[in-house]
Amino acid sequence: MINNRRSFIKLSSAAAAWLGLSPIAGADGYHRDEVEEVLNRNNLTRPSSQKSVINLRKSPIDKVKVAMLGVGNRGTGHAKLVNALYPDKAIITAVCDIREKQVNKTLENLKSSGQKPDVYTGDEDGWMEMCRRDDVDLVVICTPWKMHVPMAVYAMQQGKHVVIEVPASLTLQGCWDLVNTAEEMQVNCMMLENVCYGAEELWVLNMVQNGVFGTLTYGEGAYIHNLRDSLFGDEKYYNDWRIRQHIEQDGNLYPTHGLGPVAQYMDINRGDRFDYLVSMSSPPSSLIEHSREIEKDNEFYDRTDFLHGDMNNSLIKTALGRTILMQHDVVTPRPYSRINAIAGTKGYHEGYPSRLAIEGKGHEWLDEATTKEYQDKYKHPIWETLKEGIEKNGGHGGMDFVQMYRVVDCLNKGYPLDMDVYDASAWSSVVELSKISTELGSVPVKCPDFTRGDWENKRKLGIFEFI
Ligand SMILES: NC(=O)c1ccc[n+]([C@@H]2O[C@H](COP(=O)([O-])OP(=O)(O)OC[C@H]3O[C@@H](n4cnc5c(N)ncnc54)[C@H](O)[C@@H]3O)[C@@H](O)[C@H]2O)c1
Repeated sequence: MINNRRSFIKLSSAAAAWLGLSPIAGADGYHRDEVEEVLNRNNLTRPSSQKSVINLRKSPIDKVKVAMLGVGNRGTGHAKLVNALYPDKAIITAVCDIREKQVNKTLENLKSSGQKPDVYTGDEDGWMEMCRRDDVDLVVICTPWKMHVPMAVYAMQQGKHVVIEVPASLTLQGCWDLVNTAEEMQVNCMMLENVCYGAEELWVLNMVQNGVFGTLTYGEGAYIHNLRDSLFGDEKYYNDWRIRQHIEQDGNLYPTHGLGPVAQYMDINRGDRFDYLVSMSSPPSSLIEHSREIEKDNEFYDRTDFLHGDMNNSLIKTALGRTILMQHDVVTPRPYSRINAIAGTKGYHEGYPSRLAIEGKGHEWLDEATTKEYQDKYKHPIWETLKEGIEKNGGHGGMDFVQMYRVVDCLNKGYPLDMDVYDASAWSSVVELSKISTELGSVPVKCPDFTRGDWENKRKLGIFEFI
């Protein structure tokens, strides 16, 4: 197949680049032929039974009927946030978790407000019955990564809107499945990238939109979070789903907290798009060494078979020629950072801690007073509007409350959700794209265009347009 001229012509430029390389198979068996097939899916035309869900408008839903799917660490918190919007804006009609103790915890949390949702527990497939209920408008999916796509697709097929935790999908096929199902069913499918609602991120976004940074040239985002103890801890994640990913694959497993805001700054899918990506990883030394320090009866004690390098660096080139650096490191003993850097011809912002530099104001970071002037002038109004709810309900400093409020409020008003299925897929596609690139020697891989050409149309973000 690789020598066939027709398929060569059909190849993306990234796949063509591999032709010059010696035969490579990735650690878990990526072969060039398979990858070629995966990348050729980039060219899929939209079936006639589907239409774009960009700016999808639906009938307003007075009180959104919510089903919670997965109430572990994250879902427990989301249920509390939906509860904060009860009874005026939303009601939880059903809760599902395979572990009864998790369901009970959520029921306990809802008790004081008087909510008594129906419960599905103890059965691997109980969630399907829940998704078929008539009294569900929205399914909130907070299960382990591999379950996101099948659960979201099934829920959408039942005509429900879905919001999915991050990353929405681990695979390119999964991303396409989300896009195709949302388009076929004409429902919202949003990834819960809460960081896009952070006060700092919305402030920077507002400055970008107002031209403070001039023409954007590059950005940086990361998920640098020392999760060693949680990863190797018995109790933290259901069936240790997270550490298993580090054994199964290399690449950037969790790109969207850093990438989402940068993609919004750069109007990805709204005037620009990801074009291609290269990726490489360090050795998994922290994982290996730390595995020797845990209890001997832990399944992950003294393991050397981690495929996932401690630090993964990936670079994206956009269609407009801009570059984005993404980092993923959840095992090095170092402080938390999402970097949150954005550069333009007139200014630069970098997070951790937040600092601003503006053309014509010297070679240093702006001082506190001047930075505050920019903050006051460009802060996004939603943090002021929701001040009381943010203070009361919080969630990562308040961004989680803002996010859940927006999801519910948009459905109340029939507005499209702030982030659509194309955002979810483009941002999540970095997981498999980085895996392919890393495993095949850091080759460039072409990013799919999930919008099928619509990315060229400029449009405002929902958080500015539908507010
Ligand atoms: N956005 C954020 O800031 C943030 C923070 C934490 C976690 N997350 C994301 O949330 C998701 C869940 O992570 P977590 O830390 O809550 O993990 P977790 O293991 O605590 O929760 C997953 C839950 O899914 C349940 N589950 C598993 N199989 C099920 C099935 N067949 N039917 C019903 N329930 C099932 C488990 O019992 C568990 O309670 C992940 O995608 C993660 O990346 C996001």
